[in-house]
Amino acid sequence: MLTIALPKGRMAEAVMERFAAIGLDCNEMRAKSRKLIFENPAQQVRFFLAKPSDVPTYVEQGAADLGVAGKDTLLESGRDLYEVYDFGLGKCRLSVCGRPHTPLKRSGLRVATSFPNVAADYFESQGITIELIRLGGSVELAPLVGLSDVIVDIVETGSTLAENGLVVLEEICPCSARLIANRVSMKLEHARIAEIIRRLK
Ligand code: PRP
Repeated sequence: MLTIALPKGRMAEAVMERFAAIGLDCNEMRAKSRKLIFENPAQQVRFFLAKPSDVPTYVEQGAADLGVAGKDTLLESGRDLYEVYDFGLGKCRLSVCGRPHTPLKRSGLRVATSFPNVAADYFESQGITIELIRLGGSVELAPLVGLSDVIVDIVETGSTLAENGLVVLEEICPCSARLIANRVSMKLEHARIAEIIRRLK
């Protein structure tokens, strides 16, 4: 039985449709329910839904053979796993944002983010020392109320920024949903996983 961890929330439906399109369907999973694990015995596959930021942990630890996670989540997690396919879903950009013309190249720059590892790595690579302010969400608020100079966050349509008078100051990287694989599963279940990747493509 192959176990696949999916991120619950906004990406779940589109990802389930992709799996269903290659015959890995779990109809009961697509109905709104509080159930967390869904099996398709005929296909010898089992899906479960987890908090998106936890998916890399389940896969790295081998609790799932495969998983689906945003590139932003993968970068932040720093987990040791294989990234084997880009679904091209949930496209967005990890970016440094703030009020227009905010200077970035000064030491002690206050950066609010829910991606502390991404932010720390990025500014270190730029040779800029920062004061990191960790937030759980709605980070656009931070520069508006003087909590930070800038934010590091994902930008999808850009409407949250635009509606709050903020702009992208620098882009860090493009992101989208990726299929990830446990390193050991990739060896032991290689034929099955390779076939899934081939059909997804
Ligand atoms: C995400 C992100 C931005 C927004 C970007 O927030 O943190 O706030 O979406 O999307 P846009 O460019 O299309 O406006 P989310 O809705 O996940 O909520 P959060 O702020 O609580 O993380």
